[in-house]
Amino acid sequence: MYTLERSPAVHRTVVSDRREPVPGIVILGLHVPHLASITLPGQFAMVVPPSGEQAATALGIYEAEGERVSLMLVVVGPRTRELAALQIGAPLDLLAPLGNGFELDALGDNVALIAGGVGIASLLLPAQALAARGARLTLLYGARTAAALVDADRFAALGAKVVLATDDGTRGHAGFVTELLRALPKHAFSGLAACGPSPMLRAVGRAAAYLDIPAQLALEETFACGVGACWGCVVPHAASSVGTPVGLIRAKRAEPPARESDRFCYARICKEGPVFWAHELRW
Ligand SMILES: Cc1cc2nc3c(=O)[nH]c(=O)nc-3n(C[C@H](O)[C@H](O)[C@H](O)COP(=O)(O)OP(=O)(O)OC[C@H]3O[C@@H](n4cnc5c(N)ncnc54)[C@H](O)[C@@H]3O)c2cc1C
Ligand code: FES
Repeated sequence: MYTLERSPAVHRTVVSDRREPVPGIVILGLHVPHLASITLPGQFAMVVPPSGEQAATALGIYEAEGERVSLMLVVVGPRTRELAALQIGAPLDLLAPLGNGFELDALGDNVALIAGGVGIASLLLPAQALAARGARLTLLYGARTAAALVDADRFAALGAKVVLATDDGTRGHAGFVTELLRALPKHAFSGLAACGPSPMLRAVGRAAAYLDIPAQLALEETFACGVGACWGCVVPHAASSVGTPVGLIRAKRAEPPARESDRFCYARICKEGPVFWAHELRW
């Protein structure tokens, strides 16, 4: 439920700890009172690189406990490079918590988490919440190469069965993590929660439909504002199932759609998402 206590706010934080589990991937711990307790699993932050020369960037909230949250960064461009170079004691401003987060109760008690690359960053908090309510967990985690697999042991420590995949075959299944879904029987899990690049999420959506398993996908897009103001991050979404009229516009069509399932509107990934039901996306 949306309450004032859960409203996003600007937090002036300080880097409290820093870890580089593998070269090019950095985990920044931030001292920030009043954020961990209101962050929902799957929410994100808009983070302002401190030089002021770069726009804010979206990062999933990786850990949240007490007066500490952390962010996991993969260096891909100028903003993530600047953030990854921050050392302990550096100040950092962020706007958080943003987005809707996962609807974990709707995923049942036998849940597979599917992570692609840095998508793992948005799945630790869901794993902790699911484990806390006694759900059976499986982590299917894929990365380019063995060296890019980070913190899988954190999930194993929560009791998750961990299955790894690497594109180059250096660890686990040789190939995409979504190929692991193909071998499963129908209804193998009560629910799926996934985060990763768009092609992976589309493949998860197709597999979920085939396996007849409800799936929630946390989309990673390039955000401009990150707060629903610019409409620069929209995704086609089923119109009939959208509960709130706020922030959604009906697609303009020359002819009325022939079938109900063809009706769609545009949802802002940063505002109505980043987590969507796979069967409601029209991408
Ligand atoms: C809701 C949400 C949560 C996110 N969570 C995280 C997170 O927890 N950790 C994290 O590291 N990133 C996360 N991202 C992605 C992150 O926002 C981008 O990687 C970041 O904005 C890139 O900024 P940049 O200036 O460093 O690179 P840019 O200048 O934007 O990009 C530089 C180059 O890298 C390519 N590129 C951009 N993004 C990626 C990518 N993700 N993978 C591979 N190539 C890319 C671009 O095509 C371009 O060629 C998240 C995105 C969203 C929307
Ligand atoms: S990034 Fe501006 S509305 Fe989503």
